[in-house]
Amino acid sequence: MIISVINKKGGVGKTPISFSLAKDLGYYLQSNDNSVIESIYPDMAKISSNPEIIENCVYDFGGFVSSGVLPILKASAAILIPTSNDYNSILRTVETIEEIQPLNENLFIVVTKTEKESDFETVKSAINQHFDNLEFFELRLSKAFKNTIETGLSLTELYHETPLSKSAYKTVYRQYKTILDLFKGE
Ligand SMILES: Nc1ncnc2c1ncn2[C@@H]1O[C@H](COP(=O)(O)OP(=O)(O)OP(=O)(O)O)[C@@H](O)[C@H]1O
Ligand SMILES: [Mg+2]
Repeated sequence: MIISVINKKGGVGKTPISFSLAKDLGYYLQSNDNSVIESIYPDMAKISSNPEIIENCVYDFGGFVSSGVLPILKASAAILIPTSNDYNSILRTVETIEEIQPLNENLFIVVTKTEKESDFETVKSAINQHFDNLEFFELRLSKAFKNTIETGLSLTELYHETPLSKSAYKTVYRQYKTILDLFKGE
């Protein structure tokens, strides 16, 4: 299976989400955007301006939708679009969806860094003003995402590390698992 994670907006969580999913699924990870993935996920992660299309791979796509990215987006079983609750991020997300929806309808909007219950609804209704039939998921603000990149452990590995991490990451792990399970079942 091919999974793409994309948004031209930076800082929405593409890299920790794609790394964690790739590691939990035992998939390769490729990106057209600089990050630490090659050092934290050795032999499995690769950064290049023109990522190759391969099976069992998660793609972390930053920046603008370039021509090399299009065939990978088309071939993706799912495209995750992380967005956070700020004006710019919602604006860029709407633009990203407009560009991608004609290529692939399997879009999953992941509302990241939510701090209160209303954040999820705010982003959802702002985006739903422009589109029908989108599916939304939530990943609340959590240190887990910084830790995953710093330690090279997936969210699942981090969660299971100690009794303390289980209690600290309980909610965000449950939210993450609903996304992971979309792909584990297949
Ligand atoms: N729920 C969450 N989901 C994703 N990231 C989160 C969450 N909560 C906190 N963060 C933090 O938000 C930041 C997201 O920035 P990050 O650079 O990973 O995003 P990105 O979309 O890959 O950006 P870029 O396009 O610049 O590479 C990270 O520091 C991460 O630790
Ligand atoms: Mg990134």
